[in-house]
Amino acid sequence: RMLRRQMVCRRDIDSLNAPFLLIYESLVPPEEEKAKQKQLLMLLEKLVNKEWPQAQLYLYGSCANSFGVSKSDIDVCLAMEDADINKSEVLLKLADILQSDNFQNVQALTHARVPIVKLMDPETGISCDICVNNVLAVVNTKVLRDYACIDERLRQLAFIVKHWAKSRGVNETYQGTLSSYAYVLMCIHFLQLRRPAILPCLQEMEATYSVTVDDIDCTFFDQVEKLSGFGSRNSETIAQLVWAFFNYWAYYHDYANNVISVRSGSIISKHEKDWTRRIGNDRHLICIEDPFEISHDLGRVVDKFSIKVLREEFERAAEVMQYDRNPCVKLFEPYVP
Ligand code: GTP
Ligand code: MG
Repeated sequence: RMLRRQMVCRRDIDSLNAPFLLIYESLVPPEEEKAKQKQLLMLLEKLVNKEWPQAQLYLYGSCANSFGVSKSDIDVCLAMEDADINKSEVLLKLADILQSDNFQNVQALTHARVPIVKLMDPETGISCDICVNNVLAVVNTKVLRDYACIDERLRQLAFIVKHWAKSRGVNETYQGTLSSYAYVLMCIHFLQLRRPAILPCLQEMEATYSVTVDDIDCTFFDQVEKLSGFGSRNSETIAQLVWAFFNYWAYYHDYANNVISVRSGSIISKHEKDWTRRIGNDRHLICIEDPFEISHDLGRVVDKFSIKVLREEFERAAEVMQYDRNPCVKLFEPYVP
């Protein structure tokens, strides 16, 4: 296959800024949606505390990391101090409670990789997944949200990339493509590597926030209000960044040897992580290191078929950005099998 094609960006690229920003703005959830989510969380908190007075509920995932599009489901974590609890029992009990409180579509999935209870709130129409003691997810939600405060181009890029991935059918982990979380990490890492950099590496800076979760030390600089203007020496526009992002994943990323690492703000080698061969189900065909659970490759879901699908979609997107007359439409054209 032809790789590393040298591409110089089209001359009219900046005419795409306004249409991309309109797409971004149409995806951002309106304030009243946020209010409804809060309202649902408070209702759930009340119900949970009747049964478990010490328990706390946290929002995580896209409703709390600032990368959530309008009408997303919300992810909630039920945090219990007691480490000896049986998660399945808690989830089954919780499902009972929710059922009797007239929530709809209540379902306990106790055998999933992350066991959850699913529910739909008939009042607000919001669907929700509740997991137990998934504190690491609450922490990575915070680091994503903190990165988003530093430069608005991150949110713009990530919304466009997520929208592209959903439209093209490559945001389906059960089909071997990548999670939204993985795409956001790809965007953060990409902006860390621009020169001048648009984002810093918060985990390499002085630790102002520190928690230990399951023996993992999660420390990073979280006084992000002090970093506003960090990326201002780089004047790349959103259209240029979308172009460069797809160009990178289509033609420049070294899939055979490299791992992207938001934790270190640089590219590291598969060799260094011993991710050079298949171990169990982890094939490491595209490597995205989790910022805290560093043995966790978010590309682990990708197999020898879906890697081809993914790379062809990156190439398609790069070609569309380079040559198409109307990339803002063509990029998001639904994939029809
Ligand atoms: P959308 O729901 O698609 O808008 O995005 P999301 O950010 O909520 O992603 P998703 O529902 O896939 O994941 C929810 C959260 O789980 C992420 O934001 C992370 O905080 C956390 N998480 C931790 N590890 C993983 C992982 O391996 N895969 C996924 N998908 N999520 C993880
Ligand atoms: Mg979600």
